[in-house]
Order: sequence, then C-alpha cells, then structure tokens
Amino acid sequence: MSLKTKDLLILVGLLFIAAVLFLFSLSLIAITFLLFSLLAIQFIHYRRLQRQAKNALIETKKNQENFYKQTESFTNIVKVLPLIAPLPSLRHFAVSPDLAKILVDKIIEKQPKQILECGSGVSSLIMGYALKLNKQGSLISLESDEECYSKNQHEIKKHQLEGVVSLIHAPLKPIKIEDKEWQWYDTAFYQSLETIDLLFVDGPFFKTQSLARYPALPLLFDKLSPNAIIVVDDMIRPDEQQIVQKWLKQFPQLKASTFPTEKGTVVLYK
Ligand SMILES: C[S@@+](CC[C@H](N)C(=O)[O-])C[C@H]1O[C@@H](n2cnc3c(N)ncnc32)[C@H](O)[C@@H]1O
Repeated sequence: MSLKTKDLLILVGLLFIAAVLFLFSLSLIAITFLLFSLLAIQFIHYRRLQRQAKNALIETKKNQENFYKQTESFTNIVKVLPLIAPLPSLRHFAVSPDLAKILVDKIIEKQPKQILECGSGVSSLIMGYALKLNKQGSLISLESDEECYSKNQHEIKKHQLEGVVSLIHAPLKPIKIEDKEWQWYDTAFYQSLETIDLLFVDGPFFKTQSLARYPALPLLFDKLSPNAIIVVDDMIRPDEQQIVQKWLKQFPQLKASTFPTEKGTVVLYK
C-alpha cells in the first residue's frame, strides 16, 4: 500500500529528529528512537488496514443482501406476470425489482381502474402486465423525453400492451404553482382524466430542477379517487424526502408508509 503524504511527513520529521540526535553524538538514543518510531508507524498502518477491511466486509454484506433481495423480487415478478418477451434491464434509471414487486402487489390488491405514471420505462410494462393479470384497468404514462418515448413505445408494442398502456409524449412546460414556476408535463394531455386510483411518481428527470417532482400532487390531488394510493420512488434522495414532507404538510389527510427498497419507496394513502 502506498504511503500517504501525512505518513511521509511524519517519517521525514522522525528522520530529522534522529539525524539531530546523531549530530549530538547520541547514536544509541537515536537508533532506539528510530526503531520505536518505525514500530509505531507499522502499528498505525495495521489499525488502518483493519478498519478498511471491516468497512469492506460491511459493504460486501450489504451488497450481497441487496443482490439477494433484488433477485428474489425479480423472480417473484416474472413468475406472476404473463410475460411474452424479455423485460428491459431493471437497473440504473429504471425501477428496481423490489419496487416493481411493490407495484405489482398493490395493483393486484387494490385492483385500480386508472393508473397514472409520471416517467415511463420498464415500470410501464410491469404495471401494464399486472393490469392484464387483473383483467381490468388502464395505465396512462407520461414521458417528456422524445428518445425515451420512442424506445418505450417500441417496448409496449413488443409486449403487446397497447390495449392497456397509453404512453403519452408530454414535453415539459412551465407552469405556476403558488407564484413559483415549475417545469411539468403538459397538462393538456391528461386534463380529461377523471379519477386516478394509483399515481406512480418517477419523473420528470430529477435534474430538471430542484424538487422536480413536487408539482405531481398540487396538480393531481383533486383527480385522486377516495382510496387512491401514491407511490414515490427514489426516496433515498434528499429532494424526494423534502417533496414528500411538503406534500404531507399540504395534504394532512395522507398517511405515509415507508418501504426500505434499494432506492427508497414511500406509499401515500389518501
Ligand atoms: C427515473 S426515470 C423513469 C424510469 C421508469 N419509471 C422506469 O421504471 O424505467 C425518469 C425520467 O428520466 C428520463 N430518463 C430515463 N432514462 C434516462 C437516461 N438514461 N438519461 C437521462 N434521462 C433519462 C426519462 O424522461 C424518464 O421519464
């Protein structure tokens, strides 16, 4: 392992003290001093390596547990859903398998007639399949990005989910909420929607602006049916935590339930 600058400086300092002792003809004291110093340095190094090994072990265990959890959730989903083609990857920007399983569970349990999703992707396919399993309900998915829209539309066709999933290319437009300007999906595209039984908030892209997904509830709350649920992804991010805190203050009738998923999930019950 390479020596850090701090260690090198200490070593140079110790050598300097030893050299001074030599100069004053205190060679025995100088050698003893040098030996003890080297021993002390070795001990500090050993403790540092011990700490690093312990942290690496904790990290490996965490990764292993997460790997198991994602594999278990994915296996469960693919066993239940009537898939007709391979699913795209459930990594990176996509919904993680553990959240996908929560969505499938909730759709089977609540039998929603209308789902609205902000931010399309593999989640649109999974929810579409769950609705197909229920033999009722439809999903409207809003997508602001043209490239993602084309890619996801292709996947929806490939999975023959056009009858259940309506993917809408809704570019972001400025909209005012309490005097503050936000970028949000063009509302013209879902104005005619009467009730939403399940709202999945996973867009727009988080870098659009600070608290990018905040407009979802102020704009859609009135469209939620009496027993609607709102599922929020990415709760490990401070932005999403702040958004949910704001919503809970603004809509005190909401009850929140937290799920320790890979990216953090909150389900809000009306
Ligand atoms: C978190 S993603 C939505 C993921 C989706 N719900 C899923 O499960 O696949 C939110 C938005 O980010 C944008 N997006 C997706 N992939 C992206 C990428 N690779 N780079 C930048 N933006 C991306 C899209 O507009 C998408 O609607």
